[in-house]
Amino acid sequence: TACGTSWHAGLIGKNLIERFAQVSVQVEYASEFRYNHSIIDNKTTVIAISQSGETADTLAAIKKANDRGAITIGICNVPGSSVSRETDCGIHTRCGHEIGVASTKAFTAQITILYLLALKFADSRKTITKNKLKAYLDKSAINSGLRSLSKVLKAEKSINKIAKKYKKASDFLYLGRGLNFPVALEGALKLKEISYIHAEGYPAAEMKHGPIALVDKNMPNVFIVPKDQTYDKIISNIEEIKSRKGKIIIITDSRDKILKSLANDLIIVPKTNHFMFCQLATIVLQLFAYYIAVGKKLNVDQPRNLAKSVTVE
Ligand code: AGP
Repeated sequence: TACGTSWHAGLIGKNLIERFAQVSVQVEYASEFRYNHSIIDNKTTVIAISQSGETADTLAAIKKANDRGAITIGICNVPGSSVSRETDCGIHTRCGHEIGVASTKAFTAQITILYLLALKFADSRKTITKNKLKAYLDKSAINSGLRSLSKVLKAEKSINKIAKKYKKASDFLYLGRGLNFPVALEGALKLKEISYIHAEGYPAAEMKHGPIALVDKNMPNVFIVPKDQTYDKIISNIEEIKSRKGKIIIITDSRDKILKSLANDLIIVPKTNHFMFCQLATIVLQLFAYYIAVGKKLNVDQPRNLAKSVTVE
């Protein structure tokens, strides 16, 4: 349970915990959870995710879970905060004080913690072999992931160039599948928050059930396309948008020619693994939103109408 960006991290956590530890997970907005009829008892574990540790709805959700006898775990960036104090146990993301109102490093830290937590759960439930676990946590794999991150950060000039082209758009669609559906939601939220451009995130295949009606020659569509089992399906989604003259921005780890022919703009990140890809795509989208906002001469740290922590219901 969580709000905003932290809720998006929760969706990634669900995918990872179900994948590795084979436990069923529900992800609830804290503001809904506090009043809804979710079945919570002393056999439930409730993980509350919060950068600030002071979000009113998340605290109310923790109180409800505690009252029902659930085990509560906090994933939080601020030691000593209310979330840290009110939960039974927890993990601090410790990614440093986050200054900008739009959460960025807190999100990538939250999903890293959730990845490790999912692997730990899997290990204790014996749903993963020791060899697989070792491979996921291998130091050289982690170091190569970190090198890929710095390569993405170094590509910021080309991301800036693309951002400049689209800064006048009034609406964006962000599309991804699996782990990258929450990444699409998060990319759209970042753009809304700091550039004041309307953006929506959708699972890529869901686009044909309504949002496609919005597509015309003025509409940029950001596709997150790792080379995984749904790759071919996303290509056909891209073709559908292309035939309606929508602008296509693709973030991928594939060098296939077809992507070049479909994209108006193509951002290729290094090849890593399914989890690291979603980290890399997140950073691309954070930079994209940042440069659109900078291009529009907006204050990226203090966007209008927003506070860093929402301490009222
Ligand atoms: C993120 O960019 C937002 N500012 C907002 O959605 C935020 O994630 C939400 O209010 C939850 O905050 P928390 O993580 O501090 O609980």
